[in-house]
Amino acid sequence: MSEKKLRTFSGVQPSGNLHIGNYLGAIRNWIDLQNNFEAIFCIVDWHAITVPYNPKELKKRVIEIAKIYLAAGIDPNKSIIFIQSQVKEHAELAWILNATAARVSDLKKMTQFKDKSLKKGEGNASVGLFDYPVLMAADILLYDTKIVPVGEDQLQHIELTRTLARRFNQKFNSLFIIPEAKINQTSSRIMALNNPQVKMSKSAESEYNYIALLDSIEIIEKKIRKAVTDSGSVIEYSDKKPALKNLINIYASFSDKSPEEIVKIYQNKGYADFKQGLTKMVLNFLIPFQKKYNSLDDEEVLEILNAGKQKAEYLAQIKMEQVRKTLGLN
Ligand code: AMP
Ligand code: TRP
Repeated sequence: MSEKKLRTFSGVQPSGNLHIGNYLGAIRNWIDLQNNFEAIFCIVDWHAITVPYNPKELKKRVIEIAKIYLAAGIDPNKSIIFIQSQVKEHAELAWILNATAARVSDLKKMTQFKDKSLKKGEGNASVGLFDYPVLMAADILLYDTKIVPVGEDQLQHIELTRTLARRFNQKFNSLFIIPEAKINQTSSRIMALNNPQVKMSKSAESEYNYIALLDSIEIIEKKIRKAVTDSGSVIEYSDKKPALKNLINIYASFSDKSPEEIVKIYQNKGYADFKQGLTKMVLNFLIPFQKKYNSLDDEEVLEILNAGKQKAEYLAQIKMEQVRKTLGLN
């Protein structure tokens, strides 16, 4: 890796079943970036423990996410892949940002916190869930990140990261690079298959909400068959048909065709034909992806994560030395 390259950083939580929304909205965009940037991809386990979870399951999920990164095409010779909790500097910087830059009023504005705490009520959410965006800011700022490739739901968190970096820089010393979000227009917000008004989500109650990256062929066929469509029978790409629009976006993302071209192909055909075509496009990607996933060996994956930890820790320690020195904490 050359010293002059800018950095890109992103991460996924090891919770729930990763779905095609996570892939199309985030992970797929990382693959190209690793050729032009110094790329760091993290498995953010400290974020995943902010809601109730099962420790045994968490451990399994961490390895699963690492394998998904590798099967998707993240190359450990080009990119650093590591587990957040293995580099303690993330927690140290999060605390420092909490104390010196973040305000309660900033965090109260975060829509993800509001959404995630809705069910049990804000008062019952963990302090970690409230503070989650500050840990995310620490993840990003610790590595002098310039580009953060994510889905649309993370834009507010990245805006907050920029605010915290600017505040810290103004108050103390310009230590942090101001990062920028990078999102993909057609796939930054993939909606649920069973309801086009909500986004595809791994914590959804119904499994008909999403197509998991590790779903079997039969399940995928069934989920697409059952996906809701709008009334009428004409294939059109319009806000008046949000369910169909979402399916066309998924089709477009898995093919080299634009929404307009797809509409043309199916202009004299019905929803059933379109869904069959969509299933084919999804499987064209997922079958080889799963084959690669299944061929990965746990031991090798652990070695990759360990090597990633060493590299990330090296960078994080250099940055934290500067931060400690600036704050009189050295
Ligand atoms: P998470 O699994 O919540 O850690 O999210 C991992 C990445 O996937 C983040 O960059 C999210 O913005 C992205 N993402 C999650 N759900 C979707 C979705 N339905 N459509 C597009 N991107 C998504
Ligand atoms: N909060 C992100 C999500 O839920 C995951 C995440 C944690 C992240 N730290 C990050 C993404 C740093 C990008 C950069 O999707």
